Amino acid sequence: MRIADVAIVGRLRLAPMADVTNAPFRLVARECGSSMTTTEEIDAISLVRGAVRARDIVRHYAGERPLAMQLLGCDADLLCQAAEMVQEAGADIVDLNMGCPMPKITKQGKGAALMRDVPETAQLLRRLRHVVQVPLTVKIRGGWDDEHLNAVEVAKMAEDVGVDAIVVHPRTRSQRFSGRAPWDIIRDVVEAVNVPVTGNGDVTSPAEARAMIEQTGCADVMIGRGAFGRPWVFDEEFECLPAGQQKSRKAAIIERHMALLAEHFEASPRVVLNQTRRHLGWYVENGLPYSNPTRAAIHQAHERGEMLDTFWDWWETLDSGGVDGMAGSASTGV
Ligand SMILES: Cc1cc2nc3c(=O)[nH]c(=O)nc-3n(C[C@H](O)[C@H](O)[C@H](O)COP(=O)(O)O)c2cc1C
Repeated sequence: MRIADVAIVGRLRLAPMADVTNAPFRLVARECGSSMTTTEEIDAISLVRGAVRARDIVRHYAGERPLAMQLLGCDADLLCQAAEMVQEAGADIVDLNMGCPMPKITKQGKGAALMRDVPETAQLLRRLRHVVQVPLTVKIRGGWDDEHLNAVEVAKMAEDVGVDAIVVHPRTRSQRFSGRAPWDIIRDVVEAVNVPVTGNGDVTSPAEARAMIEQTGCADVMIGRGAFGRPWVFDEEFECLPAGQQKSRKAAIIERHMALLAEHFEASPRVVLNQTRRHLGWYVENGLPYSNPTRAAIHQAHERGEMLDTFWDWWETLDSGGVDGMAGSASTGV
């Protein structure tokens, strides 16, 4: 698949997720097989004003590329300035967030609110198209709510103004993350436009991604929550490995992820601590022996070393006591 002149090799990729898909996690996902990466949403106004957090999101590893940087905003001047800044910072693709459902965002006219006034958003995208020299993409939802399912109209508009590819998460803004994602909306968008369409929503394995591609005709698939504690989900061969090999590969990936977190956020120990707690908690897969008390101990720990010791002590116990096969099986997934 190509997004304009950027070649994308592979059919699975990591979805952008605020406070989750920072550079260390993106790099690990990319090394596991994610075909490209996308930053979490970057508020245009924060970036233009030089906010530390926005600048932090833009920091990335060369190994992540192709890398899309996702902008959030509704003011064309600010978005254009921010688009120039992210291109300068190395974005291979600029993506506009048109799907964030959080009320504090949509109240300001950003995120999914951009799907409500299609002519106004067309103007904004035209302005962006003028300043974005790299491919320009959008990530949309099914619509604002069940009475306004306009993903097809918005996708056609985006294609008309020169957007190079579209990601569709077909839930509406009012559904947020509830219920099943209605994949037929992805198919409707695929049938309506000629640019590549990426499907997204409730995919947790390569097999489910293949099903989404078959059912909707989308060019590739974005995986979000299904990658929590499972960056190896992007490796289509992983499930074919023997259980022992899966387990040692997982250990190497987790070790690398933890080391990258410490290195990348070295200047912000609090971020290292919070991110270590969050991701290690996800690496303790439900259903394995002692997973609940282990996760609780990680969440209560105040120091990174204590979190890591707790995790690896637990991990070692999976080697003994006859749980080896369980630890490596696709169904339990640690
Ligand atoms: C914690 C969290 C943060 C998210 N942040 C973003 C974001 O910054 N930008 C965006 O376009 N979508 C964001 N999303 C939406 C995801 O990219 C994705 O569309 C959604 O989770 C559905 O895919 P999934 O079922 O594979 O998780 C976020 C989702 C979650 C769960």
